[in-house]
Amino acid sequence: MSSDRITVSRAAHGLRGELTVPGDKSISHRVAILGALAAGSMQVQNYLCSEDCLNTLRAMQQLGAQVVIPDASRPQNFTLTGTALAPTAPARDIDCGNSGTGMRLMAGVLAALPFKSKLYGDSSLCSRPMKRIIDPLALMGASLTACGEKPGCAPLAIDGGKLTAIHYDLPMASAQVKSAVLLAGMLTEGTTSVHQPALTRDHTERLFAHFGIPCAVSEDGLTITVQGAVQRITAKDITIPADISSAAFWMVAASIVPGSELLLRHVGLNPTRDAIITVLKRMGADITIVNRTDAGEPYGDILVRTAPLHGTVVEKHEIPNLIDEIPVLAVAAAFAEGVTSIRNAAELRVKESDRIATVVGNLQAMGATVTEYPDGMDITGGTPLHGATMDSYGDHRIAMGFLMAGLAAEGETTLLRCTNINTSYPGFEEHLSSLTK
Ligand code: S3P
Repeated sequence: MSSDRITVSRAAHGLRGELTVPGDKSISHRVAILGALAAGSMQVQNYLCSEDCLNTLRAMQQLGAQVVIPDASRPQNFTLTGTALAPTAPARDIDCGNSGTGMRLMAGVLAALPFKSKLYGDSSLCSRPMKRIIDPLALMGASLTACGEKPGCAPLAIDGGKLTAIHYDLPMASAQVKSAVLLAGMLTEGTTSVHQPALTRDHTERLFAHFGIPCAVSEDGLTITVQGAVQRITAKDITIPADISSAAFWMVAASIVPGSELLLRHVGLNPTRDAIITVLKRMGADITIVNRTDAGEPYGDILVRTAPLHGTVVEKHEIPNLIDEIPVLAVAAAFAEGVTSIRNAAELRVKESDRIATVVGNLQAMGATVTEYPDGMDITGGTPLHGATMDSYGDHRIAMGFLMAGLAAEGETTLLRCTNINTSYPGFEEHLSSLTK
C-alpha cells in the first residue's frame, strides 16, 4: 500500500540500475474480462495486482469466474477459469474503485447479459462522464441508468439483455468507449462496428484475436468490426508485458536526473501506446530499445540515459497514444529548453483528476512557467525547478509524475494524498527507494 504522503529530494547520484515495473493496466482489465467469459482455464502471468485491476478481477469472480493463485508470494500469476459465456448474476453491486476502464468495459459486457447489475466506484469515478458509453449502448437497445448525484455519472444500474448490432461513429478518440461497444457487440447477434476519429490503444482487438473472437480492423486502423453472438471464447495462456505508462515515469526521471542510466525490462511497446518514446526522443532523450519481441503484444527492454532535452510540439494524432503519460511528459517539458506545446488534450480534464488544471498548478508551484489552455498547456522549460509540497488530488499519475520532478528539483518535494498510486503501480515506493538509496 502506498503512503499518504511521500517526500523525495534531488537524486544527486543519478538513477542507475534496472527495474521491472508491474503489468499493463489496460491489458490486465481486458484479460480478466475476456478470460472470465472463456471456456476452460488459462495461466495468466504478470497480471497487474493494483486496486483497479483487482477490482475487475473480483467483479469477474462475482460473475462466476475462478481464480487460483498457486504461490501467494506471486499473486500476479494465477489460473483463471472462465464461465464459458454463461456468467451468473452478481450477488452484490460491483465495486470499480477508481477505475474508468473497469467500469466502462464491464458496462459493455453487462449490458448484453441477461441479468441486472449495478456498478459503483469512488468519488473521483462517480464524477467522470459515463454518457459516452451509455449513448452507444442505448443505441444497441441497452438499459443503462446513470444514478449518480452528478448527471450522467455512476453508479450505473444495468438491466442487461439482448441487444442489436450497430455501427457507431465515436465522437471522441477513446479506447474505453470503443471497447465497451465492441464487447457488447461480441455478445450480440450480427456485426457491430466502430469508427474512431484517431487511433487509440488496440488491446481489445489484439485480445479478440488471442481468444479466437472474429474481429477485423480496416487498413487505416480506424474501423473495427466484430462478428457477434460469439459461440465460444477459448481460454489461452497469456503473459502481460510491463506497463509502458508506469515505465514512462522512470523514462522521464532518468532523462532529467543528471548521471542516470536505467534499464526498464519487458515493457509493452504496442504502437498505439509508444508515442511517449517518440516524443521524448524528439525532445533529445537518449532512449534505446533492446531485445524487442512480439507475443501478441510487442515488448522489449528500454535503456534510458540522461540527456539535455528541448521543447517540442505534441502532434494532435499523438495525444490519444500518450494520453496517460501527459502529466509526466509535462514534467519533462519543464526541464527542457524552450517551449513544449500540448493541445487537443481536453480529455485530460475528465481523467482521475482534471489533469490540465492539476499539472499546471503543480508545475507552477515548483516555479515553472506554464500557460493553461482549455485543451492543453504551453510549458516554457529550462529554469531550474524548486521543491514544493503539492496535492496529488488523489490522482496516481499526478503523484508519481511530480515525485519524478522532485528527483530533479532543488530541495525537498512532498506529494500529498498519494495512496491512489496503488490503483496502477503497487510497489512504486519500493522502486523509488531502491533507486534513490
Ligand atoms: C484506457 C484508455 C484511456 C486511458 C485509460 C485506459 C483503456 O482512456 O486514459 O487509462 O484501457 O482503454 P480513454 O480511452 O477514455 O481515453
